[in-house]
Amino acid sequence: MTVAHSQSYDSGLVERLLFRVARKWVAGYSSADAIEAALDANRRGMSAILNFLGEDTADEGQVGATVDEYLLLMGMMHDKNVQGCASVKPTQLGLAIDYEMCRQNFKKLAARARERGQFLWIDMESAKFTEDTITLYLELLKENPDVGIAVQAYLKRSGADLLHIIEHGGKVRLVKGAYHELEEHAFASGEDVDSNYLHLLKMLAGGDNFFAVATHDSKLIDEAIKLGGKCEFQLLMGIRDELKSQLVASKMTVAEYIPYGGQWLPYSVRRIRERKRNLLLLARSLIQQ
Ligand code: FDA
Repeated sequence: MTVAHSQSYDSGLVERLLFRVARKWVAGYSSADAIEAALDANRRGMSAILNFLGEDTADEGQVGATVDEYLLLMGMMHDKNVQGCASVKPTQLGLAIDYEMCRQNFKKLAARARERGQFLWIDMESAKFTEDTITLYLELLKENPDVGIAVQAYLKRSGADLLHIIEHGGKVRLVKGAYHELEEHAFASGEDVDSNYLHLLKMLAGGDNFFAVATHDSKLIDEAIKLGGKCEFQLLMGIRDELKSQLVASKMTVAEYIPYGGQWLPYSVRRIRERKRNLLLLARSLIQQ
């Protein structure tokens, strides 16, 4: 009895300490927290891209609850006059369980987004889902032009994918990529990823389709500004806020990606891994408790 009690106390404490760090990148647990953060982004001159955290869902009930959450969120954004949209991970809508289930769920969200006059983004996850995610995206695009997909510059296949998506009139969010991938699939060095990012950026800027430059890398952002094209800049909540203000002040279109929900750990681990200084932040928070 005593042992069980102290174990649950310890895990609760660790969770609270970790959440203190994660709070930098995550709006909070509830849709109300997300709406508040989105309105704050709007006040700072940016639109908001809201993501209900969750991934690799293996449980159909959980998938259904996630669809309901996004439908509710879209309604709240509409009612509260939030400038922005949702961004959804395919495996939260069932891609790890069944492609058809995921497709039906995305169709539901895309239809609701359309009714509400909102855009809908599809996040890109690890390489084993790339092919299915692109197939699904191109299907959705036939019914709704206001749907976009993330493409990862670290993947060697992305040049060919981008060409295909552009040909179909698709809208792309260009990111470097956040997952651990085998060298067989992905460029291993930061220089190679950056040079592929620039290559893909030139492809996007050379076309007529709307696209999003989603990076905090000043060099690539400067290149994007020089290249021009129908684009917006997207940055994550809690990262490089000064750069966001500079872009807004220079009359660029900027969006802040704002995650929320109870499943904040995998997302926060990716943010910590991206930068050594974030590890120090974590250590400091654990020491200062
Ligand atoms: P890089 O990591 O090279 O960072 C450039 C500079 O930005 C750093 O020098 C530092 O100053 C700052 N910076 C970057 N990360 C930081 C951090 N965690 N803390 C503090 N400073 C940091 N990925 C994916 O695989 N699928 C997806 O769908 C998406 N979606 C997405 C949407 C949006 C709006 C953004 C901005 C990013 C994504 N990503 C993503 C994540 C992306 O792939 C990548 O992991 C991160 O953006 C970090 O890479 P950068 O492009 O910022 O470059």
